[in-house]
Amino acid sequence: MDPRRNPYSPGAGTPPPELAGRDDLIQRAAVALDRIRDGRSARSFILYGLRGVGKTVLLNRIRSDAEARGFAVVGVEAPEGRSLPGLLVPALRSTLIKLDRGEGARVAIRKAQGALASFAEGLKVRFHDIEFGWDSNPEKGVADSGDLDHDLTDLVAAIGAAAADRKTAVVLFIDELQYVEEKQLGSLIMALHSASQNQLPVTMMAAGLPQLVGQSGRAKSYAERLFEFVPIDRLNEQSARDALTIPARVEGAAFTDAAITEILRQTLGYPYFLQEWGKHSWDVADSSPIEENDAKEATSRALADLDASFFRVRFDRLTRTEQRYMRAMAELGPGPHRSGTVAKKLGKSVTEVAPVRNALILKGMLYSPSHGDTAFTVPLFDGFMKRIMPAPGSGSGARED
Ligand SMILES: Nc1ncnc2c1ncn2[C@@H]1O[C@H](COP(=O)(O)OP(=O)(O)OP(=O)(O)O)[C@@H](O)[C@H]1O
Ligand SMILES: [Mg+2]
Repeated sequence: MDPRRNPYSPGAGTPPPELAGRDDLIQRAAVALDRIRDGRSARSFILYGLRGVGKTVLLNRIRSDAEARGFAVVGVEAPEGRSLPGLLVPALRSTLIKLDRGEGARVAIRKAQGALASFAEGLKVRFHDIEFGWDSNPEKGVADSGDLDHDLTDLVAAIGAAAADRKTAVVLFIDELQYVEEKQLGSLIMALHSASQNQLPVTMMAAGLPQLVGQSGRAKSYAERLFEFVPIDRLNEQSARDALTIPARVEGAAFTDAAITEILRQTLGYPYFLQEWGKHSWDVADSSPIEENDAKEATSRALADLDASFFRVRFDRLTRTEQRYMRAMAELGPGPHRSGTVAKKLGKSVTEVAPVRNALILKGMLYSPSHGDTAFTVPLFDGFMKRIMPAPGSGSGARED
C-alpha cells in the first residue's frame, strides 16, 4: 500500500501513531504530579523495562501533559559516562529561566540561580564535564561545600522554594537513569527525599532498564518510599491489536485476523516490534485488508532489518568474550537463566565468567531479575544471537561442557 501513508513509526523514542495500553499509567502519573505540586504526599514514578517497550515515549507523554498543566519540566537523557552534575547543571539552568518568566517577586529565583552557580563552581574540579558560564553570582554558604550529597540537597531545596513561590512544581524527567553512577544516584535520591520531607514541590520522573530497581535500592534503601517502581512491559493482546489496527483504521485500512495472529506471535506484543511489523506489513500488502501472507513476508523483512540494525549495533559494541557469553545464554533459550548454567555451557566456573557478566550488565545488555539469574535486556535477542553466531562448542577449538 502507499508508503507515503504508512502510519507506523518504529524508532527510539519516536511517538507511536497510537500509544496503546498506557492510559491508566498516564492518568496515575498526572494525579501524583498534581498532588506533589499541591504539597500533598505522593510518589512519582520510575518506569523500568526492557529495550523497546515504550519507556521513552511514555515518559515524554507524561512530561508534555505536565508541561501543558503548567509544570516547570526539565528533560534529560543520561548518556553513558556523563556525570550527574554535568547533566543537571545546564538542564536546571534552563528550568530556572522558565520559572523566571512568571509574574511576581524574584527573590527565590535569584537565590536558586545563586545556588546553581555555587553548585557548579564547587563541583567543577571534581566533575570535569560541568559546563558553567553565566552571569549569576554564587550564593555564599549555599550548595558550595564541594560535597555532592550536601550541595545537591541545598540546590534541590532552593529550586523547590523557587517553584513554590511560582505556585508550580519542578519535575526532572530523566531517561536512561541506569547510566547514572550509583553513588551520584544516591545523592539525587537523597536530595529529592529531603525536598519531599519539606513538602517542596520538586520531584523526578525517570525511566531506565530493569537494573535501575536494584541500583536505586542499593543507592538509598528508602528509594521505594519516594518512588513507585512501575514495570513497563509488552502490551497485552487487546492493546497490541489496538496498536496495529487503530492507526490502520485512521488511514481506511484493516488487517485480517490471521494477519494479526501472525504479527502477535512474532512480536510477542513488544511495542517496538509491533511498529516494525506494522510498517513492513503495510508496505508489503497490495491492498487492504492486510493478509496473513503479507504478515509472513513482513516477518522475514522485519527480521532482516532488525538483524542489520537494531540487534546488530548492540552486538557490535560487545567484545568477543562478551559475544560468546551472550551466545551461550541464547543457546539456553529466551531466559532468564541461572548464572551457573550459563557458565557451565561455556565450560567455565561462575567466578571465571563473573567479570564478563558484570561488564554486560554495565553495558545495559543484561540484567539480573533476581539473585543469580541473568536475562537479556533486549527482547528476542536470543533468536538473533543464534542467527549470527554458531552454537557454542561447534567451532574449532571451543571447549565443550
Ligand atoms: N504503547 C505503545 N503503543 C504502540 N507503540 C509503542 C508504544 N510504546 C512505544 N511504542 C513504539 O515502540 C518503539 C520504542 O519505544 P521507546 O523508544 O519509547 O522504547 P524504550 O522502552 O524507551 O526503549 P529503549 O530502552 O531502547 O530506550 C517506538 O517506535 C514507539 O513508537
Ligand atoms: Mg528509551
